[in-house]
Amino acid sequence: MDFVLLVFFLLLGACGAFILDDVALPQYYKYGKSLVLVGGALAENNSEIYNAIIEMSGGRGVAKIGIINAASLDPVGGYQYYRDVFLKYGALEANRIPIDVNHTSANADPKVVSLIRQQTGFFFGGGDQQRVIDTLYTQTPQGRMESPALAALRERFNLGAVISGTSAGTECQPNKLMINNGMSWEALRYGVHTTYSEDHPDYLVYNPSGGLGFLDGFIIDAHFSERGREGRLAVLLDETRRQFHISRGFGVDENTALVVTHAESDAITGKVIGQSGVVFIDVTHAHHDPHSIYYSISNVLFHYLTNGDQIGLRNLNISFSPRKTPMRGHENYDHALTSDDIFYGKHRNSDHKPEFTRAATSVFDSRLDTSTYGDTYESHPTFRVILTRMSHSVGFVERKSSFHTDLTSYENLVVSIAERK
Ligand SMILES: *[C@@H]1O[C@H](CO)[C@@H](O)[C@H](O)[C@H]1NC(C)=O
Ligand SMILES: *[C@@H]1O[C@H](CO)[C@@H](O)[C@H](O)[C@H]1NC(C)=O
Ligand SMILES: *[C@@H]1O[C@H](CO)[C@@H](O)[C@H](O)[C@H]1NC(C)=O
Repeated sequence: MDFVLLVFFLLLGACGAFILDDVALPQYYKYGKSLVLVGGALAENNSEIYNAIIEMSGGRGVAKIGIINAASLDPVGGYQYYRDVFLKYGALEANRIPIDVNHTSANADPKVVSLIRQQTGFFFGGGDQQRVIDTLYTQTPQGRMESPALAALRERFNLGAVISGTSAGTECQPNKLMINNGMSWEALRYGVHTTYSEDHPDYLVYNPSGGLGFLDGFIIDAHFSERGREGRLAVLLDETRRQFHISRGFGVDENTALVVTHAESDAITGKVIGQSGVVFIDVTHAHHDPHSIYYSISNVLFHYLTNGDQIGLRNLNISFSPRKTPMRGHENYDHALTSDDIFYGKHRNSDHKPEFTRAATSVFDSRLDTSTYGDTYESHPTFRVILTRMSHSVGFVERKSSFHTDLTSYENLVVSIAERK
C-alpha cells in the first residue's frame, strides 16, 4: 500500500474511533435531548414516571442510571433507595456518582468522569438545590466554573442520556435564575432576595447565577400546588425579567413529571405524566403597578396541564390529552369557588385539590361566573388573587367521580394579585 493511502486509512480509523466515542445513544433518535422533571414526593409505585425515566435511558435491561444525590444530607442512604427502585423497574444498572458537598474535589476525579461517561441516563435526588450547584461548579476568583463532572454530564445529555430529577433535583436544572427558597405571601410582601437570612427563613431567595443549565428559558419550581407556590414564582418572574429576560416559568406538582423531549431544538415539547399537574406562568404581558403600596400585578397568564397534556415549549402551544373534553357548555356547577387561604396548598394525603387549583379549576366548571378570587390567610396586607376566564381561556377535563378527582386542565387563565382594598 502506498504511503498516502496508508495515512488516509490511519486518519479514517482515528476519525472512526472519535465518532464512536461520541456516538448518540439509541434513545436520542426518538427523544432528542431529554429531561424528566418530577415535582417531589415521587412515590415508589409511580410506574408511569419510573418507566419513562428508564425508557428514556435506553429501556429495560439497557438503562444505566447514574444517581446524583448531592442535594441530600444523606447522599449514600438516598442513593441506596433509588438504586433499589430503579433496579425493580428494570434498569440494568443504577450507579452512585460519588460527588456531594463534602466531596467536591471528586467533581474533577477522572474515575468519576469516566463513570459518568458510562451512564445512559441520570437521576438527581431531592434536598437542597444549592448543594447540587456547590458540588458541580468550582468556585474561582473569576466566578464559578463548570467542573469536569458537569461537563461530562452535559456531554451525555447532548448524546441523549436523560437528565431526570425530583424536587431539588428538578429545581436545580434551569439555566438562568434558580429558586432557592421562599413562600408566596412573603414574596409578595418582601420581594426577592439573593441571600438567605436565618431571621427571615420564608423570604424568596434565588440564585442569580442560575442552575445546571439543562433547560433554558424557564424558571423551574417543584412541590408546586401542594405548597401554594404560585405567588412566589409569579413574583420572581416579574421582579427579575428586565434583568434576565426570562418571563416564563413552570412549577411541577408532587408525584407528577414534565417530560421534556427534543430540548434545545424548535421541536422542544413537554408532556405531563403522573398524578397531578404542571402550572405554567407567563408574565410576558403582565402589568406591574409601581404605585401600589405593597405589590400589584395584573394580566399574568396561567396554564395548568395534567396527565397526558402536551405543550410546545417554544411558543407555549398546548394540546390537551385526547381523553379530555372541553368544559365550556358542560360545566357542572353554577358558581365558582372562593378561598380565604389561596396559597395554603394541601394537606399531605388529603384527596382535595390544593387551594389555588381548587379555585382556578372551579372557574372553568361554573356556568354563571367567569371570575373568582382567593385571599391570602396572612394579613397586613391581605393580598387578593383574582382569577378570570376570558374568551381565549379554555378548560378541558377528564371526568372522574367528583370535582376533587376530576383531572382538570386549563389554558389562559388571567390572574391578578394586589393588596385587598
Ligand atoms: C400507590 O400507593 C398509594 C398508597 O400507598 C395508593 O394510594 C395509590 O393508589 C398507589 N398508586 C398506584 C398508581 O398504584
Ligand atoms: C458534610 O459534613 C458535615 C460535617 O461533618 C456534616 O454535618 C454534613 O451532614 C455532611 N453533609 C453531607 C451532604 O454529607
Ligand atoms: C406546537 O406548535 C408546533 C409548531 O406549529 C407544532 O409542531 C407542535 O406540534 C405543537 N405542539 C403541541 C404540543 O401542540
